[in-house]
Amino acid sequence: MKKIWNLECKNLIGKTVELYGFVENIRDHGKIVFLDLRDRSGIVQIVVDQSFKNFHQIKQIKPENVIKVIGEVQERSPHLINPNLPTGRIEVKVKELFVLSKAESLPFDISTDGYEIDEAIRLKYRYLDLRRKRLQKNLINRHKFLLFIRNYLTARGFIEVETPILTKSTPEGARDYVVPSRIYKGKFYALPQSPQQYKQLLMVSGIERYFQIARCLRDEDPRGDRQPEFTQIDIEMSYVEREDVLNLIEEMFIEAVETLYPNKKITQKPFPRLTYEEAIRIYGSDKPDLRKNPDDPNELAFAFVIDFPMFEWKETEKRWDAVHHPFTQPKLPDGRKDKEELLEFLDKNPELLLSEQYDFVCNGYEIGGGSIRTTDPDILVKVFEVMGNNKEEIFKKFGHLINAFKYGVPPHGGIAPGVDRIMMILENEPNIREVIAFPKTGEGRDLMMDSPSELSEEQLKELGLKVENENK
Ligand code: AMO
Repeated sequence: MKKIWNLECKNLIGKTVELYGFVENIRDHGKIVFLDLRDRSGIVQIVVDQSFKNFHQIKQIKPENVIKVIGEVQERSPHLINPNLPTGRIEVKVKELFVLSKAESLPFDISTDGYEIDEAIRLKYRYLDLRRKRLQKNLINRHKFLLFIRNYLTARGFIEVETPILTKSTPEGARDYVVPSRIYKGKFYALPQSPQQYKQLLMVSGIERYFQIARCLRDEDPRGDRQPEFTQIDIEMSYVEREDVLNLIEEMFIEAVETLYPNKKITQKPFPRLTYEEAIRIYGSDKPDLRKNPDDPNELAFAFVIDFPMFEWKETEKRWDAVHHPFTQPKLPDGRKDKEELLEFLDKNPELLLSEQYDFVCNGYEIGGGSIRTTDPDILVKVFEVMGNNKEEIFKKFGHLINAFKYGVPPHGGIAPGVDRIMMILENEPNIREVIAFPKTGEGRDLMMDSPSELSEEQLKELGLKVENENK
C-alpha cells in the first residue's frame, strides 16, 4: 500500500508522499488554495499555488470529495504554524492531485459532535454520521477495549470458541428472534439470546476456559441501554467458585481501565460485593449507583451484587420464573450445601431460596451478569419443574443438557459483561447507540437498510409461510 497516514507526514519533512482521503474544507485565497485533507489519523494541510499545472481544476473541488495527492512535505513558515493540529507545523505542497470521487453536499454537518442533529437522519445516513470524529473515536476505542480483553483472557488460558447463530431458543427471559427453516417447513431456528447452553456444553467437552465476543439477540423493545442485538464478553470456566469469577472480572476491568482510560478514577478497589438484600435495603436498587460524585464524568463505581433470590413470581403467567436463568445453582437461605434439603426447599419453599447469581454493576447500570451453574441433573430437573414444566417438556427442551451432564461434568460458572453498556459508560455517551456502528432505532428499525422489510411472494412460498394481518 502506497498510502501513508496523514499523521505520519509530520516526521517526513522534505519527502514526497502519497496521500488519500476526504477533503475536509477548502480555503481559496485566489492565487493560493489550502485544502484540509482528512483520513482516519487526522488532518493535513495541502497547499496548491499557481505553479501547479492544473491550478484551475483545484477550484472545482468540493468538501468530502475523495482525492489522491502526491506532494512534498514542507515546514510551514513560523507565522502559519497551527499549534492545535498534530500536523500543524507542516504542510504538503501538491505535485499531482486526482479527484477519485465527487461528493454531493452531505445531509448534515459532520464537523460537530452531532448530538444536535435529529437522530433519525443520522441513522438513515449512518455511513456519513460515522465520518464524525466522535463516532470514529468510539469505534476505535471499542476495538482497543475488545483487543485488550482478547489478549488478557488469552494470556490466562482462555480460548475463544464460536457458537451457532442458528440455534434453538434458550429460556433467558426475552422473546426469541426466529428463522424459518426452508428444508423443514413449519420448523424454526431461534437466534441466540446468549450462548449460555453452548458454553456450558463446552465445559462438558473439557474446554475449561472459554470466552467469546458474542453477538446476542433478544426481541425486546429497545431503549437507551438496550438493543435487539448486542455484544457480550461471554465467559465460562470450569472448577471455579464465585470469587474466582469475580476476581477475574475485577482484575481484568481494573487493568483495562488503567491501561486504556488512565484519566478515569475507580471509586473503590477491590470492587464492593453487596448482597441483593443490602442493595435493595440501602440503595433501593439491585444496580446501585455508588459514585461519590455523580457529576464527575471520570468516576467509575464498579460493584458486584450477590445472593440474588433464585425465583420470582410471574403474576401474569401464574408461575415461578428464575431471576437469572434456570441453569443457575440454587442456594439454601443459610448458604449450606445439602442436596436433600435443597430438593425439599425447591418442592415446598422456592421463594426462600437464594442463588449463586452475581451481577456486575457500574454507575447505576447492570453491565454484566452470571452465576455458578447447577450441574446435578436432579436439581436441574427440579428447577425446571418449579418453573412450571412437566417432565416431558423438560426433556424436550433441555434433554441435551441433562444428558450431557450424565457423562461427567466439571463444576463450572461464568459471566457475561455487556460490551455496549460498558463502552457507553467509558465514552460518557448518553445511550448505547453511540458506541455501536449500525444500531437500530428505539422502535427496532434499521433506517439505513430499511429493515425489517417484506419478503417476496416467492420467498414466502419457499419457506412455507403466509403473512396474516400485515402491518404496513
Ligand atoms: P444477562 O441476560 O444478564 O446474562 O446479560 C448479560 C449482560 O448483557 C447485557 N445486555 C444487554 N445489552 C444491551 N442490550 C440488551 N438488550 C441487553 N441484554 C443484556 C447487560 C447484561 O448485564 N447468559 C447470561 C450470562 C451468564 O449467566 O453467564 C446472560 O446473558 O450488560
